[in-house]
Amino acid sequence: MAEIEQTEVDWLGRAVAQTQGLYPYIPGKPVEQLLREKGLSYAVKLASNENAYGPSPKAMLAMQQAVSEVHRYPDGDCTELKSALAARHDVQANQVLIGNGSNEVLELLIRCFAGAGDEVVYSQCGFIVYALATQAAGAIQAAVPDTADLGHDLQAMAAAVNAKTKVVCIANPNNPTGTLLSNDALQAFLDVLPRQTVVILDEAYDEFVADIKADSLQTLKHPGLVVSRTFSKAYGLAGCRVGYAIADARLLAVVNRFREPFNVNNFAQVAALAALDDGDWVMDKVAKVKAERARLEIAFDDLGVLGGKSYANFVLLKHAKAGGILNKLEDKGIIPRPLAGYGLNDYLRISVGTAEENDKLLNGLNAVLKQVEV
Ligand SMILES: Cc1ncc(COP(=O)(O)O)c(C=O)c1O
Repeated sequence: MAEIEQTEVDWLGRAVAQTQGLYPYIPGKPVEQLLREKGLSYAVKLASNENAYGPSPKAMLAMQQAVSEVHRYPDGDCTELKSALAARHDVQANQVLIGNGSNEVLELLIRCFAGAGDEVVYSQCGFIVYALATQAAGAIQAAVPDTADLGHDLQAMAAAVNAKTKVVCIANPNNPTGTLLSNDALQAFLDVLPRQTVVILDEAYDEFVADIKADSLQTLKHPGLVVSRTFSKAYGLAGCRVGYAIADARLLAVVNRFREPFNVNNFAQVAALAALDDGDWVMDKVAKVKAERARLEIAFDDLGVLGGKSYANFVLLKHAKAGGILNKLEDKGIIPRPLAGYGLNDYLRISVGTAEENDKLLNGLNAVLKQVEV
C-alpha cells in the first residue's frame, strides 16, 4: 500500500492528540518469547493471573462440540448464557451485559458514560485498564493515591468526586495489590456519592473471596452500581475472552448501543455456560489456588520479601531490587509481572501456579535472592 504523506492530509491528527501519552496495556511476556530469548527448554508464565489448573472438562467438551458450527455467527445476544447468569444472580436477563472479557465491559461502560470534560475516579494502584479506557474515551483521569498498605482510600476517593465525575471504578479484590474492601466499607462509600454516579465494582477475583464476604450483588445498593465479573480467572477460560456485568436494565440498555453486534464468540458462550454448570469443579480449583497462595505467602514472608496479604490468585513480592529479581527469575524460565507501571518499583506480582510450578518458583527465588543480596 502506498504510504500517505503526513503533510498531504492531517489524517492522524485527532487520534494522535487523543492517544498522547497513552501507554498500551503490557501483558506478561509470552512463554514462547522467553524460551526463544533465553534458549530455555522450560518456562512458566506467572504474570497474567490465569487459573493454572485449566478449564472445566465440561467447558472443553462444549467447545469441541461447537467446532462444527464455526461457520455461523454466534448468538449476538448471548441468550442462553445471559439467562443462566440472570438465574445465577437472581436478576432479569436485561440486567446482564456480556463482553469479550470483562475488559470489554469495563471499556464500554467508561466510553459510554464518560467523555470529554468528564472525570473518572479510581485509585492510583487500581487495575490499569481504568486509566487506559478513561484516556481513550477522552475523559479526565482522577487517580487517587492509595492508603499506605496499598488499599483503596475510600474517603479520599469520595472527596475526589465532584460535579464532573461520571464514573468511579473500584476493583475488589484489587489487581495488582490484592487488597479487599468489606461490603460495609463499600456501602458507606456508595451512600455519600451522588445518586447519578456510575460505580463500576470490578469483581474479577470474586470467587476467591466468596467464602469470607457476602455477595455484593445481594448486599450493595446504589442506582448506578455495575458489578463486573469474569470467566478468565477462577473459571480458567482466559483464552475464550468472556466476562459480564450486572446492573440496572436501563443503564445497560444504553451501554448495549455501544456494543459490537457479535462481541462474544460462540466457543466463549458455550464454554462459559458449561463452566457455570460445573461449580464444584471451579470451587475445588479455587480451594487449591488458595492453599498454594498461603504456602507462597508463608515462604515469601520467611524470605523477607512478602509485599502484603493478597485476596486474589496472585502474591506480591517486595524487594528494593525487584527489577533485578525479575530478570534473574526470567533467566530461570519464570515470568513474573513487574509493577513499575503503577509506580510500584519495588514490587513484583506473581500469579499462583500449580504446586509444581510454585516449587520451581520458590527454588528459583531462593537462588536469585542469594545472588541479588551479595
Ligand atoms: C481487576 C481485573 N478486572 C478485569 C480484568 C479483565 O479480565 P478479562 O478481560 O479477562 O475478563 C482483569 C484481568 O486481569 C483484572 O485483573
